[in-house]
Formats: sequence, C-alpha cells, structure tokens
Amino acid sequence: MSSLTNLFDNEDRYQDVYCNGFSRIAMKDVVLKEVSQYFDDNVMKKMTDAFPADDQFNLLGVGVGEGHHELHFLKSLGSHFTSIRNVAVEPNQSLFETFKTNAAAWSSDDKSNHDSRWFTGPLSQFFSENPLAKCQYNLISAIHSMYHTGDLETTFTRLMSMLKDNGIKIIVLSECKLIKETFLQNTWLPLSFRVTGKSLSDEIRKVSEQKGYTVSTKKLDITLDLTDLFDEESELGDKLADFITCTAYLRKTASAEKLDALMSFWRSLCSQEEDGRMRTLSHESIMVISK
Ligand SMILES: C[S@@+](CC[C@H](N)C(=O)[O-])C[C@H]1O[C@@H](n2cnc3c(N)ncnc32)[C@H](O)[C@@H]1O
Repeated sequence: MSSLTNLFDNEDRYQDVYCNGFSRIAMKDVVLKEVSQYFDDNVMKKMTDAFPADDQFNLLGVGVGEGHHELHFLKSLGSHFTSIRNVAVEPNQSLFETFKTNAAAWSSDDKSNHDSRWFTGPLSQFFSENPLAKCQYNLISAIHSMYHTGDLETTFTRLMSMLKDNGIKIIVLSECKLIKETFLQNTWLPLSFRVTGKSLSDEIRKVSEQKGYTVSTKKLDITLDLTDLFDEESELGDKLADFITCTAYLRKTASAEKLDALMSFWRSLCSQEEDGRMRTLSHESIMVISK
C-alpha cells in the first residue's frame, strides 16, 4: 500500500475535490442562499443598529475558501457602511484566488471606501504573526471552517475577544454523521485535525452561554446524494471519497481491504430511495453570537 496523503497537503486536489466534488452534492447553492437570507434579515439589522454608517467597519473571515459567503456579506454591508476593511484568512491559495478576484471586481464597482487584506495560512499562524490579529472587528465569520482551527473553546474565545462591543460572530457548522463517524472509526486516516464525538454547535452554545453571549441558531437539513461514491468508475465518486476521508486519491492509495470496509460502512449509513439514489442527511446550523 502507498502512503496516504492528507488532502490539505495537496492544495490543487483539495480545491478540485471541494469545488467539483463535495460542493456538487452538498446543495452549496441552497446553503449560500439560506445563509445570505439569514444574514440580510437578522445580522444586518443588528450591525446597522449597533454601529454608525461611517464607523470603520472591520470584517474578519476565517477559512473563507472561495469566499462566496463573505462576498455576499461585503455587498450587503457596503450598501450601508461607507468604510469597510475586509480581512480574510485561508491556507489554500487555489481557493483563495477566487475570493480575491471577486472582491476586487466588487470593490471597483462599489462606491464605499473598501480595503482588503489577505492572509494565506492557517488561523493559528495569523494569530501568532499578523498585526491584524490585534485589530477589533465588527463581524467575524467562520463558515464551515471551525472543524479545522484547533481547540474549539480556545479558538472561539480568542475570536470573541477580537470583536468590538456589540460585534457579531457568524458560524456555520454541519453535523454529518457519515463524515464524523468515518473519522472516529478509522484512526488510520492521515487527519491533521481533531475529531470528537461531541456536537460542535452544542459546544459553541455551551461556551457562549457560560460567557454571557447571546446565541441565535437556525437549523437546516441538507440531503447529500452519495450515489457516485458507490461507483468505482466515477471520478465524482473518487472526489467524494477524498473529501469524506480528507485524504488525497484515497481510492488509488488505500488498501483494498480498508476500502471495502469503508464502502460497507458508508452503505450502512445511506438509504437507497425509490429512484435508486443513495442519500444521507447532514444537519447544518447557522449560529449568530452577539457580544
Ligand atoms: C469546508 S471548507 C469551507 C470553505 C468556505 N468557507 C465555504 O463555506 O465554502 C473549509 C475551509 O477551511 C480552510 N481551513 C483548513 N484549515 C484551516 C485553518 N487551520 N485555518 C483556517 N482555515 C482553514 C480550508 O482550506 C477550507 O477553505
């Protein structure tokens, strides 16, 4: 058996797997629409009530990927606030390029005084070496990224300390049994992050309440169509297997024995529906925490 490579160590493969694999079956357009609507209906009101339109508005995005969510936040914020600083942290250069290009196009069209700062690297490195980690932010976003940023309570507390009074943190997390159980039961996978059996959204709610922050949550059920995962010839199936295990080219590099065990396990967590497709559910939470 060849040695297995953590997917995060192969940036181009991660980009391909995320954008052309997992995003295709995880209803990412629906999630983006729901988060954008929730932001416009709830977060914008809190922000415009708490901060004057001419405040220096600072937005920090953590693990932004291609930045589709943050671009929406910028567009909505830009309709009210006249001066916005957009700070984005993302280790994957290939994904980051899309956000840089889209944000540059938006800021050249927009009349507000807009400035973007890009940090390519993990959040821990941003904390330890970038002066912008000492800045105070009106809004911090972490959309599907807090699985990867180290000890949850420490990271969460540090990020909350970087918010201005009345600032807001918006977090999106998914509880997908298939992915979580894959990591918990297959300790041979080359993971770079810690997975526990606990629900991350419950942990965040608990820490927030202990510290006296207000939390509002909206839940979404997302159906994942994993049919291609069970087709050995499917390229989409290869990408889904890589994302679920966070391993580059899993189906080419893991032993036949381990692959068979994984496939049986994945089958047991999917249901085959009347149309013959294999599906499972992912429970997503949009959490808004007010300081
Ligand atoms: C599931 S993707 C989500 C991307 C994007 N926020 C979205 O919703 O489409 C997770 C993101 O977290 C980033 N990431 C991984 N480790 C990280 C770390 N230590 N610090 C910050 N971001 C990290 C990945 O590169 C990836 O872009």
